Amino acid sequence: MASPSEQTTCETMNSEKYANVNWDELGFSPMPTDYMFVMKCSEGENFLQGNLTPFGNIELSPSAAILNFGQGIFEGLKAYRREEGRITLFRPEQNAIRMKMGAERMCMPSPSTEQFVDAVKQTVLANKRWVPPPGKGSLYVRPLLMGSGSAMGVAPAPEYTFLIYTSPVGNYYKGDTSINVIVEEKLRQAIPNGAGGVKAITNYAPVFRAVTQAKTKGFSDVLFLDAKTGRNVEELSSCNIFIVKGNVISTPATLGTILPGVTRKSIIDIALDSGYQVQECVIPVEDLMDADEVFCTGTAVVVNTVGSITYQGKRVEYKTGVESVSRKLYATLTGIQMGRIEDKMGWTVEVD
Ligand code: COI
Repeated sequence: MASPSEQTTCETMNSEKYANVNWDELGFSPMPTDYMFVMKCSEGENFLQGNLTPFGNIELSPSAAILNFGQGIFEGLKAYRREEGRITLFRPEQNAIRMKMGAERMCMPSPSTEQFVDAVKQTVLANKRWVPPPGKGSLYVRPLLMGSGSAMGVAPAPEYTFLIYTSPVGNYYKGDTSINVIVEEKLRQAIPNGAGGVKAITNYAPVFRAVTQAKTKGFSDVLFLDAKTGRNVEELSSCNIFIVKGNVISTPATLGTILPGVTRKSIIDIALDSGYQVQECVIPVEDLMDADEVFCTGTAVVVNTVGSITYQGKRVEYKTGVESVSRKLYATLTGIQMGRIEDKMGWTVEVD
């Protein structure tokens, strides 16, 4: 729990408008900020009360379930500083709902939606000076839920920790706004009836090898195919995928092997509202190679144009640039997030 002197420091820090950061150089790597939020509860109980505490290392038993069995899930959302100075979040309750679904899958208690959103707001406010100036990036908010109690046998932990930390971030992919992607032909990311549909911590390390190999070949990311047939498009290592053919925008249906992205869901609504036909369906890799445009969505990547896909040694290039569908959808989404476009859906939430 923050002591009175820490709370004073928090207020003093927040009275400085900005932390000492080179905002023009932001990438997507962790930068320690002032505070994190921590809340604990025992198995079979509900989370009750959490606190802001200075950002720092946490203590865990070597036998903690998160370290031994990967009993953990995480979320990612962003806080934006608008031109007029207000700080807002984008659909934080959607992250709370997704965390709850993931917690059920991983046998963990989860904070209520209200507790989650309130904790995110408190954490962002305590780290307000790390929210980049408008147009320079955002404050990435990373809620974690983990089995922090000890477990030797394969069983849920007796204690859980909900923790939120933040970091200012810029673009996820280095360099250009359009990325080159390779289709992974051997490794699979998620299996039917597995945990691919929730944001389990254990979903990510298994893709490191494919992503690392792709990067050494000059690609920005890897596209995974379904484990059952190896013929259909699923998702990239860190984001969902969409293809465009004429006026039709398609994206793989979320049937348990694909993460139900908050940005994915928002882009579907924006595209429908903008007059596109949108379908959630099975996408054979041949349709991907035959598309006019391809783009990917996620909190970290926002909406990123895919410039090319390479599959079985064949490279296909797609439409990019300001006239592309993905650039238009990006402009609408970020316009709503930054308050430049009216938020008809009520998606944005003020933190102060
Ligand atoms: C996000 O988009 O927020 C993610 O969690 C993806 C990734 C950075 C792990």
